[in-house]
Amino acid sequence: MSVPEIEFELSEIDQAAQKFWQYATGAVFAFHGEMGAGKTTFIAALCRAKGVVTALSSPTFSLINEYAFFDKKGNEKLIYHMDMYRLKDEEEAMQAGVEDCLYSGNICMVEWPEKVAGLLPENATHVYISLAGNQRRLLKLKAGC
Ligand SMILES: Nc1ncnc2c1ncn2[C@@H]1O[C@H](COP(=O)(O)OP(=O)(O)O)[C@@H](O)[C@H]1O
Ligand SMILES: [Mg+2]
Repeated sequence: MSVPEIEFELSEIDQAAQKFWQYATGAVFAFHGEMGAGKTTFIAALCRAKGVVTALSSPTFSLINEYAFFDKKGNEKLIYHMDMYRLKDEEEAMQAGVEDCLYSGNICMVEWPEKVAGLLPENATHVYISLAGNQRRLLKLKAGC
């Protein structure tokens, strides 16, 4: 990944999302950052950038949300958005189908990935979000091997 950092104001989040997709490779993205860092907000921008039209709702209670978009060739593709915050253990994640999603080849955005560390593919891209001011956030990307 040749752009390991992206810093943006809330008003620039859609440009930041475009930039992310220019450099992102792979399907599984693990979003690290404290509560309120902006994980869900940035994931929503990443979905908009792909052309997802339905609003992103928090998967905190359902664990996994699924969104559809059409790629440049007109094929329907899926994005899975998962929030592991309330997860008890990896067993619960397996039962909810988290592992199936992670290895499906579809784009997966995982919040609180620490809770499913043992289930993440080795080539997952890790994204670290931190506050860089009131409306500013810093993203650091670390591509998996
Ligand atoms: N540059 C920014 N990027 C993302 N969120 C921002 C930014 N600036 C301010 N915010 C605000 O910070 C909050 C982030 O909340 P959320 O995305 O739910 O965080 P998390 O999912 O990490 O707990 C939102 O209220 C959002 O409007
Ligand atoms: Mg969140």
